[in-house]
Amino acid sequence: MSNQIPEETIESIRKSNDIVDVVGEYVQLKKQGKNFFGLCPFHGENTPSFSVTQEKQIFHCFGCGKGGNVITFMMEMEGFSFFEALKYLAAKTGISLPESTMQQENSISKENQDILSAYEWLTKLYNHLLRHAKDGKEGYAYFKGRGLTDETIDQFKLGFAPNVNDFTKTFLEKKGFHSSMLVKAGLLSLNDDHSITDSFRGRVIYPIRNHIGKTIAFAGRTITEQGPKYLNSSESELFQKGRLLYNFDLAKKHIRKQNEAVLFEGYMDVISAYQAGVRNSIATMGTALTESQAKLLRRYVDTVVICFDADQAGLDGAYKAAAILQNAGCLVKVANVGEGLDPDGYIQEYGAEAFQKHIIDASDTYMSFFMRYIKKDYNVQVEGDRFQYIEVVLKRIALIESPVEREYYVQELAKEYDLSADTLLQEVQAYRQQSVKVKDNREKDRYTNKTNHFIKPKRLLPAFHNAERQLIAYMLQDASIADKVQREIGVDFNIEMHKVIATYLYAFYEEGKDADVSLFIERLTDETHRKYISEIAMIPIYGEITDKEINDYIRIIRSENKDLASMRHLKQQQKLAEQQDDPMKAAEIAMQIILLKKQMKEHY
Ligand code: CTP
Ligand code: MN
Repeated sequence: MSNQIPEETIESIRKSNDIVDVVGEYVQLKKQGKNFFGLCPFHGENTPSFSVTQEKQIFHCFGCGKGGNVITFMMEMEGFSFFEALKYLAAKTGISLPESTMQQENSISKENQDILSAYEWLTKLYNHLLRHAKDGKEGYAYFKGRGLTDETIDQFKLGFAPNVNDFTKTFLEKKGFHSSMLVKAGLLSLNDDHSITDSFRGRVIYPIRNHIGKTIAFAGRTITEQGPKYLNSSESELFQKGRLLYNFDLAKKHIRKQNEAVLFEGYMDVISAYQAGVRNSIATMGTALTESQAKLLRRYVDTVVICFDADQAGLDGAYKAAAILQNAGCLVKVANVGEGLDPDGYIQEYGAEAFQKHIIDASDTYMSFFMRYIKKDYNVQVEGDRFQYIEVVLKRIALIESPVEREYYVQELAKEYDLSADTLLQEVQAYRQQSVKVKDNREKDRYTNKTNHFIKPKRLLPAFHNAERQLIAYMLQDASIADKVQREIGVDFNIEMHKVIATYLYAFYEEGKDADVSLFIERLTDETHRKYISEIAMIPIYGEITDKEINDYIRIIRSENKDLASMRHLKQQQKLAEQQDDPMKAAEIAMQIILLKKQMKEHY
């Protein structure tokens, strides 16, 4: 890995970014023994097999095999190049990189870099105009009118695009950007008469930031209530609505800390809530929640509070979003802002404290929401309708795993409609028995289909194989053990992968490095090596490593070597005997082969 960043700088960047913190921004990690576990961000799973050790500063997924250190994690997670990952981690801890290296090796195309740069310029310009210029006065007045503070305006980089045909065009062209690229980026529009004009004119601008805080699109809202309410940048390689959550970059650390996210429908709801102190606020961008967004959230939290408008569209949206979130394994709650209001409206009307206390903290469980939501389809005053409604609710209650919870809702229902709770519970039981059968079949299907390739059966490895793995685990932790092994067996491991790893490891120590799995992994360019080593490095080591133990492993490895050599020799002899037409001798050798095989098997 050739680069011009001094090794000490790379070292200090790595050392100042604790892998548990960095991974923790993407994955909800729980401590179990010495290691942390969470749901792997690199493959879909429902039980955590992704582990991180703080002590060794590496991660490894026992499901998909991915592994590495904090730098390679960022490379995998954000698609960064090595330099981009360094740049990102350096910025996090305030370490500065030499100027000359800043331009190097980007994983994104030149065109996308230009688009990002154009958006960055414009975000600053539009915000500046709004805050300080005559041309942005209307925009400033608009946001003030909606109760935003200067601080919030700046935090969200809100801006105003003047109502001039070519203001943006002229500004960016002066900076050297080409209009064709700007059209593609959605900042300029190509008109029917082939003229090119600014896309956003006379609108307030909500910059849409990606998960690392870079603006990748604009939403421009009308302030005159003319034309469409919002104009959005078109989707592009950089801006994919279905994979992005608005405000995720600012919200994610609060989401992690509170183990809860609040999902809104609109930009203004998020901004208002954030200003009101609900910092774990995010939103989709005018489209239904996607599976990919739900999975992203699931990696961070257990609970998502859906806080949509109280109108029919909002309720339908909440119902759909709840299903998608539950599917992804989230616990869902649904806030109820009350007739005729949206969350932003509520905050304006009743203030921040009431919003937190009466709306967010008081949100309904999914079940209560469900009961409220489907009730509209039935006229519960009419007996026939009422019983149908109760049946649908009981069926849904039957799906709840916790008996206590089931009983709770049955009691509620019984109270509300003056029915016998016992009878209702019996019905729930009956539905459960039916659905258990269905579920059993479904589970079976699941296991015969896709789950299989993730669950690798834990093979019992032969003794020599285990000895080699264990020895390498020790060698990764202790240079003096590596030194001893190098003297005694060199690279004469029996497993090909171990020969390769040993070669790299000896070279690493010969450079005078101390034992450091994280650094060692970073220098390996081959992903299969990284996967393998991160796995071996996760082998727990209990107590003192004794010389006797090391010697035992060396002995087992050597004897396997010897056995293999004898086996090769015997097989040659056997062939020779057959060629020379000497059946007696061939049979005798066959016997010896069987004996040797048996002896080797005893090492299993
Ligand atoms: N939306 C959109 N285009 C529209 C209308 C809505 O992209 N023409 C998206 C936006 O992401 C918007 C969300 O849908 O934030 C919710 O729409 P709405 O409730 O109409 O807007 P608000 O964001 O609540 O705007 P405001 O409070 O300023 O009326
Ligand atoms: Mn709204």
